[in-house]
Amino acid sequence: MCGIIAALSYNDNISNNLISALERLEYRGYDSAGIAYLDNNSSLQRIRTVGKVQLLKETVERQQIKSHIGIGHTRWATHGTVTEFNAHPHTADGVAIVHNGIIENYQELKKGLVNEGYVFESETDTEVIAKLIASHIKSGKTFFEAFKQSVNELVGTFAITAIYEKEPHILLGAKKGSPMAVGISPDKQSGYIASDAVALSTLANELAYLEEGDIVVVKKEDQILYEIFESNGQKIRREIVPNKVSLNDVSKNGYESFMLKEIFEEATVARKTYERFNYNIDISKFNNISIIACGTSYYAGIVAKYWIEAIAKIHVDVEIASEFRYRNPVLTKNSLYIFISQSGETIDTLCAMRLVKEAGIKTLALVNVDTSSIAREADFTIKTEAGVEIGVASTKAFVAQMLSLLMLCCRNIDIEAIERSINAILNGDHDIAKLANKIKDCRSLFYIGRGVNYPIALEGALKIKELSYISAEGYPAGEIKHGPIAIIDENIYTMALAPYDKYFDKTISNAREILARNGKILLITTNDAKNFLHGIDKNENVECVFLPENNPLYLPFSLTTFIHLLAYYTAKAKGHDVDKPRNLAKSVTVE
Ligand code: AGP
Repeated sequence: MCGIIAALSYNDNISNNLISALERLEYRGYDSAGIAYLDNNSSLQRIRTVGKVQLLKETVERQQIKSHIGIGHTRWATHGTVTEFNAHPHTADGVAIVHNGIIENYQELKKGLVNEGYVFESETDTEVIAKLIASHIKSGKTFFEAFKQSVNELVGTFAITAIYEKEPHILLGAKKGSPMAVGISPDKQSGYIASDAVALSTLANELAYLEEGDIVVVKKEDQILYEIFESNGQKIRREIVPNKVSLNDVSKNGYESFMLKEIFEEATVARKTYERFNYNIDISKFNNISIIACGTSYYAGIVAKYWIEAIAKIHVDVEIASEFRYRNPVLTKNSLYIFISQSGETIDTLCAMRLVKEAGIKTLALVNVDTSSIAREADFTIKTEAGVEIGVASTKAFVAQMLSLLMLCCRNIDIEAIERSINAILNGDHDIAKLANKIKDCRSLFYIGRGVNYPIALEGALKIKELSYISAEGYPAGEIKHGPIAIIDENIYTMALAPYDKYFDKTISNAREILARNGKILLITTNDAKNFLHGIDKNENVECVFLPENNPLYLPFSLTTFIHLLAYYTAKAKGHDVDKPRNLAKSVTVE
């Protein structure tokens, strides 16, 4: 996904606000960035850079720009390589546009525009929109009419904003499938359109979120104001809500990275989620529960499967959203369908939920952003209390998801024990940075676990992949011998999640099978296993880590914090940007 921002102001310093918004939007993508603005002669200007927003910021500051209107974009590439000519904004005859989403019919539209004589400079779908608007203006339409007509011709998903040098007092925006918010600054001097509340955390205290098909006009008359129109052209008032994102949320607060700050918030997040969980959903009336999600959120669903089936005795399916939505699933009315998403904007999960809704079945969303598309379209929503998560790799949100799902089936939770379990890792002396140095140069890693430790192994492997770019596989410990063990040799390190629970002995046996092939093991176990290791800890290829937790129900929380810190320190040891890993974006709003 990408981040978009647009500003119209009485002040002439909008470039500063565009850049500060882009810095906050970087978690949505950071392959390239750019701004377009109208200078004091109302001529369209554009600056684009490849790489993170910092480079754009330095370039913009050198030019000491004075402007009242502009748009900005930070890109996660979908169509076209990461180059300056593919960077947004894209322009045509005085029109500039930025876009988050995918235009599915851009090739067909492009053909028509090429026949009209337009010459394209980029490989993107977005450039088609700029030229389509310009084409309609050339045919005699006003900027607004041309914009509206163009939006009606687009097939796909988009949040787009545009400016036009011949109409310097209006900003236009349109929303379909990708999020968009509009807000006015507290001093009423500036109006903004942006991808989300994070972008406007220091610019607008109140926001309105556009709905599917909405078009927004921000204009400068005797004051800055905005009007929202539904796709049928009717003016509509969308609810104005406080911008809940505070400066604290988008600041590192002394930590060297958002990721480290957010890992160290995991115990607090668990407590907040516990205290604010007031949802009376009686899952016992359902015969089956289907959990659908992507990535880390999917792993939270697998953890929940083990808990719900063991505690509530209800059958649980857990599925990857992008598979679920295309396999013609058999949907059953007396099932509870839960969609888990930190961002609430993951298009695979959103479309999977729409599939279930179209069948007339109620949907439950577990989301961290209650103004998101998934939250707003679900029949019921549980909000995880993780707070704003900026680090692209999801950490504290995973803890909040797990706790919320545990509370769906178990209310007598000892939250102090969970907090202690997490804090024992955060404040422990496990020297995780030293362990990270042992694995940071490995060609390949395994994470193995049994039972509820298996999805934690999956999460650990994903975090290492995302942050250290090391090939890592999460595997059921009992499955390694059915083929993957062929990979094991002295170059392969296996993280064996083997706390002293009912799976302990079997997992230790699997670890021994790996050692018998000269594989190396990081045995992540618990203090109460010390008398049952039977010498495996003496093996030269084994490094043991002893976590203090001894309640099997709470083990996933301490194991999670441990594997999150292990991934963090491994990436740090490799000199990677832990907040903005290469090729990634915080929420994937494209298929
Ligand atoms: C997790 O660290 C990844 N960034 C990614 O797998 C993420 O969990 C996935 O894209 C789902 O995102 P969501 O929870 O916002 O839907």
